Amino acid sequence: MAALIKWKNHHIEDVEVNLLLNALNERYGYDFSGYARASLKRRLLGLMHYFDVGHLSQLIPIVLYDEEIAQTVINSISVPTSEFFRDPGVWYYFRTTILPQLASFPRINIWQAGCGYGQEAYSLAILLHETGLLKRSRIFSSDINPLFLDNAQRGCWPVRYKQQWSDNYAQAGGSGDFADFFIEKNNDIAIRDEFKQPIEFIQHNLVVDDVFKEMQLVICRNVLLYFGNTLQEHVVDLLARSLERGGYLLLGRGENIVDLPEKHPQLELLDSSLQLYRKLIGVS
Ligand SMILES: C[S@@+](CC[C@H](N)C(=O)[O-])C[C@H]1O[C@@H](n2cnc3c(N)ncnc32)[C@H](O)[C@@H]1O
Repeated sequence: MAALIKWKNHHIEDVEVNLLLNALNERYGYDFSGYARASLKRRLLGLMHYFDVGHLSQLIPIVLYDEEIAQTVINSISVPTSEFFRDPGVWYYFRTTILPQLASFPRINIWQAGCGYGQEAYSLAILLHETGLLKRSRIFSSDINPLFLDNAQRGCWPVRYKQQWSDNYAQAGGSGDFADFFIEKNNDIAIRDEFKQPIEFIQHNLVVDDVFKEMQLVICRNVLLYFGNTLQEHVVDLLARSLERGGYLLLGRGENIVDLPEKHPQLELLDSSLQLYRKLIGVS
């Protein structure tokens, strides 16, 4: 039975998913109905295990009346996983090829959508700093989840990630000491204030909110993979409309959006392994 997913003693039916998503939307204004069902169900199964309920529908009255549990459910659906210089090859290409081209703009406006805990926005700030472009750059970093945005704004992460992120930085072409970008205290690394200055963290929902106008660069990595085809199409259109002509769009590596070139002819594919696009000159 396709509509039924089983895991140990737990099972999920489509009707329960719909009812839970309706509850989250009606009560808290989060519309997850266009998200890809298979991965959504996997995360909901994890939540059933966590809350030890045999049926997903048991969570519905709980999320309606318990905001803390509802937030746990929302956090689990929105997945903030990230890293500094995640997919270092992409950042290397950015440093060596894209940023030199952006350097000709007097102001560089960047929209980074789906920022999680902020690692990607600050990676960008570090790169702009190292290429001498930070002072004339503005990064609008957005996410659906205000809790993630608070964390991103704080700019603090457990020190145990430092080595892995430092390796990413080096593979991305960084030649400095990664530790210099942080202050280390109480088992955390906190990003230095100078990298916070050009970033504005903004709550923005890709499902319902509008464009950011006239961006030279839009980055939306590892977000679209959680969306179903129709929502992906809507969001790629939103991202493309946010770009200035000639501006760049970077999606996540491996996020091969179905029929993107056919459905979005205003975008030219520059590199399929990087999922890097450019908005054509002569379109709006
Ligand atoms: C896996 S993280 C990606 C973080 C970062 N872009 C990266 O690639 O490392 C996905 C982020 O997308 C955000 N997100 C999910 N749905 C969203 C929506 N409808 N609008 C805006 N952000 C959304 C989540 O809250 C989460 O922070």
